Amino acid sequence: MNILLLGSGGREHALAWKMAQSPKLSKLFIAPGNAGTAEIGENIPIKADDFESIGNFAIKNEVNLLVVGPEDPLVKGVSNYFSGNPELKHIPVIGPSQEGAELEGSKEFAKEFMKRHAIPTAGYLSVTKNNLSEGLSFLDELEAPYVLKADGLAAGKGVLILPNLDDAKRELQEMLEGKFGAASEKVVIEEFLRGIEMSAFVITDGESYKILPEAKDYKRIGEGDTGLNTGGMGCVSPVPFAGDDFLKKVEDQVIRPTVEGLKKDEINYNGFIFFGLMNVHGEPKVIEYNVRMGDPEAEVIMPRLKADMVEVFEAVSRKQLSTVNLEILPDTCVTVMLVSGGYPGSYAKGKKITHLKDTAESIIFHAGTKTENNIVYTNGGRVISISSLGATMSEALKKSYKNAEIIDFEGKNYRRDIGFDLQVYLK
Ligand code: AMP
Ligand code: GLY
Repeated sequence: MNILLLGSGGREHALAWKMAQSPKLSKLFIAPGNAGTAEIGENIPIKADDFESIGNFAIKNEVNLLVVGPEDPLVKGVSNYFSGNPELKHIPVIGPSQEGAELEGSKEFAKEFMKRHAIPTAGYLSVTKNNLSEGLSFLDELEAPYVLKADGLAAGKGVLILPNLDDAKRELQEMLEGKFGAASEKVVIEEFLRGIEMSAFVITDGESYKILPEAKDYKRIGEGDTGLNTGGMGCVSPVPFAGDDFLKKVEDQVIRPTVEGLKKDEINYNGFIFFGLMNVHGEPKVIEYNVRMGDPEAEVIMPRLKADMVEVFEAVSRKQLSTVNLEILPDTCVTVMLVSGGYPGSYAKGKKITHLKDTAESIIFHAGTKTENNIVYTNGGRVISISSLGATMSEALKKSYKNAEIIDFEGKNYRRDIGFDLQVYLK
């Protein structure tokens, strides 16, 4: 089977690496891909949201399955573009319909969905310029800190958490006036949830679902969870504080109602669902939905799956997922992200990466990299994701940190404390 994968990050390298292990795979194309995906498939210079070029390429190269890595093409409707085109509709897409992608594309849509299906989440009010005064009164009723979310996609920057009521009121008005462009013409104000965050994942064919390993990522740039938010500096799976009782609550209160809710609402959904959760005194609450795998979560989840991912995707596209046995390795997988100096602020690209082949006992996933004349260069903020499996978290971390020292490029930075907060749960 020929597969076309959209995207260019560490998540896509991890998906490509997993699919490449399948005897069912003939050709793997990645659009646009990175230096890592180029080693296991063929990168094609097409942007992930250029649907016309993607469609033409798929026809010409007899693609049998489209796997979508990032949210952007899904929110823009790549799945509908394929299903609505007579020449493309025979190609199944791993990724929801445009309507399904609204779970990530619109915070208000997600909140209304959760309300309709009684899925636990923070209390909220959706505000536009037309009901600003209601929004200001709602803030008065809440306790600090105040959570303001741009309704639309804002490149991960659309969530503000403000300790002070006056600041929250001012920010609310600035957001509605276009602080994040059209994405914040509508703002969701939320009650602040206190607890520990983690993420759960499923793959669904719209009828049934399979639970994938859970994970915890490290979003801040600085050690001890300090400094600016990033795309993710590291990740750990499994999550030691997510015991069986908690995970059962997640399945009963969140996962099953979500998949059933999509069905009730007649929303076509084939693909991954990523549940951003807060564990509030042992009770799960949904912070957000994402309609794709996470990055760097994919870099710790894919290595823990025994299943043949191409077979899983095939079953999803035939609506036969319930027949699949999705076995998960008991090992811990961690990943440590090497990033460019200055990230998440401004940073240089084009730095030569050395010693990539001098590592052992880890899986080296490329994030922002490119190749020129057989030399690999940095090409983004997040550069290399070093994933390792181990019988324990510390064993896995030891391997990743050893290789984090070996791989090098000018300005290399990484967090040396991935998993620091989880040690207490392991004793
Ligand atoms: P989101 O983009 O919705 O995931 O929000 C980004 C981050 O803000 C989350 O990962 C949480 O750390 C935090 N956050 C979002 N919503 C809330 C909330 N209601 N209560 C507490 N923290 C939140
Ligand atoms: N690591 C968070 C995300 O992929 O959205």
